[in-house]
Amino acid sequence: MKSNSLVSIDQCSKEDILRILSNASKFEENPNRNLLEGKVAATLFFEPSTRTRLSFETAVNRLGGRVIGFQDASTTSSTKGETLKDTILMVSNYADLIIMRHHLEGAARYASEITNVPIINAGDGANQHPSQTLLDLYSIQKTQGTLDNLTITMVGDLKYGRTVHSLIVGMSHFNPTFHFVAPDELRMPEEQKTFCDKLGIKYSEHSDFTEEIINQTDILYMTRVQRERFTDLVEYERVKNVYILRNEMLQNSKDNLRVLHPLPRINEIAYDVDDSPKAYYIQQAQNGLYAREAIICELFGIEV
Ligand code: CP
Repeated sequence: MKSNSLVSIDQCSKEDILRILSNASKFEENPNRNLLEGKVAATLFFEPSTRTRLSFETAVNRLGGRVIGFQDASTTSSTKGETLKDTILMVSNYADLIIMRHHLEGAARYASEITNVPIINAGDGANQHPSQTLLDLYSIQKTQGTLDNLTITMVGDLKYGRTVHSLIVGMSHFNPTFHFVAPDELRMPEEQKTFCDKLGIKYSEHSDFTEEIINQTDILYMTRVQRERFTDLVEYERVKNVYILRNEMLQNSKDNLRVLHPLPRINEIAYDVDDSPKAYYIQQAQNGLYAREAIICELFGIEV
């Protein structure tokens, strides 16, 4: 990769992506390797997380490095008014790698511009979540045997969902066809549709979540309506239950269809889907460990 930071998936070439996925499969075979001995990673989570923080911390631990950081910014000096700039400069004194999640779009890019310590964007507002994209691509490749020529249906909060925004960019190298299923209030933003238009990527938009769409689909990517991004909670209440995937809706779907979700889920996937062989979201989160081991080594230039 050209940069020593990962702030956006668009900085990864097709070759970068395929190399990281190949390395992720090596870590899946053997996750415990002493490649980060003597290195310290800082996880700075200004927003809540379960999977991203814990899988990054597990990745560093399994690679023989050590972890410092916080999961609750209210325990840090940011509550006394310390700026993000000063926080990043301080942590750069202590750590060899900074993994950060922040509510402000562009926060990780800003951090990467003020420090030489590698930055991994673990989610910045509704903008990007590039490590999630790499684990999603790894999950898609594993379950489909290829990344090429797949039909991907994205369902739910396509306006605020940073995972779908990043996944469009990541999949753009592989001739995808997208279905975007969202209520009017949460449609895919113009920026992402313009991106598809410029690259000649096929997509269609729908407000109804029908079996006709599901039955054409290889990857069904469900998303949560993101309560924390709404300024008007009445609007959130109106749309929060708009799409719920139930097992019976998969009965005529393709054999290779897999249901992905970045998680956490609220109620957009009914629990009866969990027993379907097409449910893949728990394994998808497990793949995050291997993908994140590969990402960390990529940024340090460590041969895997
Ligand atoms: N997928 C994801 O980002 O999950 P967390 O918010 O739990 O990290």
